[in-house]
Amino acid sequence: MVFTRQALPAIRPVNRLIDDGRMIVRTRLVAKVAVTTRSHNNSDEVMAYEADERDPERRTVWSVVVTGIGASDLNVTRLHRYIACNCRTHTTGGYMANASTDLQLMTELEPVAERLLNRHISMFKEWNPHDYIPWSDGKNFYALGGQDWEPGQSQLSDVAQVAMVLNLLTEDNLPAYHREIAMNFGMDGPWGQWVNRWTAEENRHSTALRDYLVVTRAVDPVALEQLRLEQVTRGFSPGQNHQADGDLFATSLFDSVIYVSFQELATRVSHRNTGKACDDTIADQLLARVSADENLHMIFYRDISDAGFQIAPNEAMRSLHKVLRNFKMPGYTVPGFRRKAVIIAVGGVFDPRIFLDDVVMPQLRKWRIFEREDFTGEAARMRDDLGLLVDELEEACAKFELSKQRHLEREARRAERITANRVLSTTGTLTLSRK
Ligand SMILES: [Fe+2]
Ligand SMILES: [Fe+2]
Repeated sequence: MVFTRQALPAIRPVNRLIDDGRMIVRTRLVAKVAVTTRSHNNSDEVMAYEADERDPERRTVWSVVVTGIGASDLNVTRLHRYIACNCRTHTTGGYMANASTDLQLMTELEPVAERLLNRHISMFKEWNPHDYIPWSDGKNFYALGGQDWEPGQSQLSDVAQVAMVLNLLTEDNLPAYHREIAMNFGMDGPWGQWVNRWTAEENRHSTALRDYLVVTRAVDPVALEQLRLEQVTRGFSPGQNHQADGDLFATSLFDSVIYVSFQELATRVSHRNTGKACDDTIADQLLARVSADENLHMIFYRDISDAGFQIAPNEAMRSLHKVLRNFKMPGYTVPGFRRKAVIIAVGGVFDPRIFLDDVVMPQLRKWRIFEREDFTGEAARMRDDLGLLVDELEEACAKFELSKQRHLEREARRAERITANRVLSTTGTLTLSRK
């Protein structure tokens, strides 16, 4: 399909169905072709569609090009009829000519999703957020006759405060993640059940973390609420609201399951290390509990991705390559993320070494990315490029260690100077005892 995007020609592989003289293209709401069509609904958006095939033996080529006006069709009756016609199986164009469609993949992976959902429910340990909150430490704020928050009330270190806020805001952004996976997984059958169950469990995390932080006065609750509003308003998808360059939407089932395999593992590690950084038994237990949930989420996504690598290795590799080459942490859209990320990296909660050793490599090993021999063509080249990426991440770890070392040395010298200055400024009052 050829259309105009920002005054330039854009070409996207699409699927099509012919219905009553009209060509029906089924697409995700966020796909470029759909966004373009919607934004031009009040004017005419000229589009062209080409289908072709090449016979290498006879050395013949045929192609058909049609042009017409594009428009969104949101008529529910017609949509159901199109779905029943299964128009997504008629994928054409570019490398997608031989690719399985998302609908085929979802159907093929549905029994796996059902098995993993049942395994998840059997392994899940029930817990209640209120059991992890020291309610008797709480008191009213000014609006109810008490005292508002002041920095001196926090018992957490600076690193623990930043890590807690970052983790909570990541959990707060649940509506964006729900939207992301619901759009790629669908809402029916085991896939839909997983989306809903996962959403309910994730919601518990933000409830528990916010209650803990507000009751213990660990951080400013007003700033926390403002950050939550800003974060959820920003959304999540890299690429959304120009948060990152390029076309980084998760546009397929594999994009989503592979991204969240890494994301869930990253949050598991981050919650666990944050719990330790808090130096408070209750916070440590709460974050260990949340971390255990994240682990169960991670193994669902990791294992369904693994099944995806078995049935469609090349398509799974394309998604893996896209995800890792453009990886952004789920907290990427948190206001002031870069500064916060540096603080928790220096504080040892989440740094480049942890990302590579505890998040990236375990998944690559589990999927046997560097051992398997079923990647072909472009996918095989992408696997080789992932080898280079791992080397680049190693270099980034070494660079980070070096700058962290220098930073800590600078801090130590500064602390020494402050102590020396204090001693000098109090010399007159010192008394020495002689024996
Ligand atoms: Fe969570
Ligand atoms: Fe999770």
